[in-house]
Amino acid sequence: MLYRLRWLLCFAAMTPLVIAGLSYQCGAASPAEDAGLERARQTTRMLDDLYKTAVVLITQHYVEADSDLPAGSAAIALFDAMKQKGWHEVRLLDATGQPIEEKNAPQDEFESAAVRELLAGKSWHEEVITRDGNRYLRAATPIPVVLAKCTMCHDHYKEAKPNQPIGALSYTLRIE
Ligand code: HEC
Repeated sequence: MLYRLRWLLCFAAMTPLVIAGLSYQCGAASPAEDAGLERARQTTRMLDDLYKTAVVLITQHYVEADSDLPAGSAAIALFDAMKQKGWHEVRLLDATGQPIEEKNAPQDEFESAAVRELLAGKSWHEEVITRDGNRYLRAATPIPVVLAKCTMCHDHYKEAKPNQPIGALSYTLRIE
């Protein structure tokens, strides 16, 4: 009943907008759903700072030779643990076309589009998806060559322009 009323009100509100040449979406998320989406975005931004800061600190202080465990590999192990525990999913992606590990190449439409957008200069790419009846935020952020040390194992990063992304982090968080 309430749902029907919402649509009725929505169409009533829409008519003058359409006449005025403006578009309006009746199926748009309710304010409560949007608050959930905003919280998921905020958590993603926090995780992004946390993971990237950890990778830089580990590389700076612990990675001396190309035989050392790369911070990226430690991060992938951490991402696996977070997924196993049911928190969220993160993937370390290549944006150069020459990944060390083929599994780190973009794997689906979202990841390919994200890499394209980030290479074009965007700092954030997102999509809201529904899986098993739950809403999820998928978001990707760029990784530039933050330290000269990164080129120790990724020789081709020397060709990257300053601030050009060579990789990305791709997140999937449940919207609650
Ligand atoms: C000690 C060698 C080493 C160093 C230093 C290193 N990496 Fe890596 N990196 C690797 C290895 C090995 C992988 C593959 C990890 C895997 O998939 O298990 C990898 C994976 C990656 C990937 C995913 C794409 C790919 O090539 O598979 C990105 C992006 C990346 N590293 C960025 C960086 C950045 C940025 C730095 C500097 C902060 C850095 N790496 C420093 C060895 C290194």
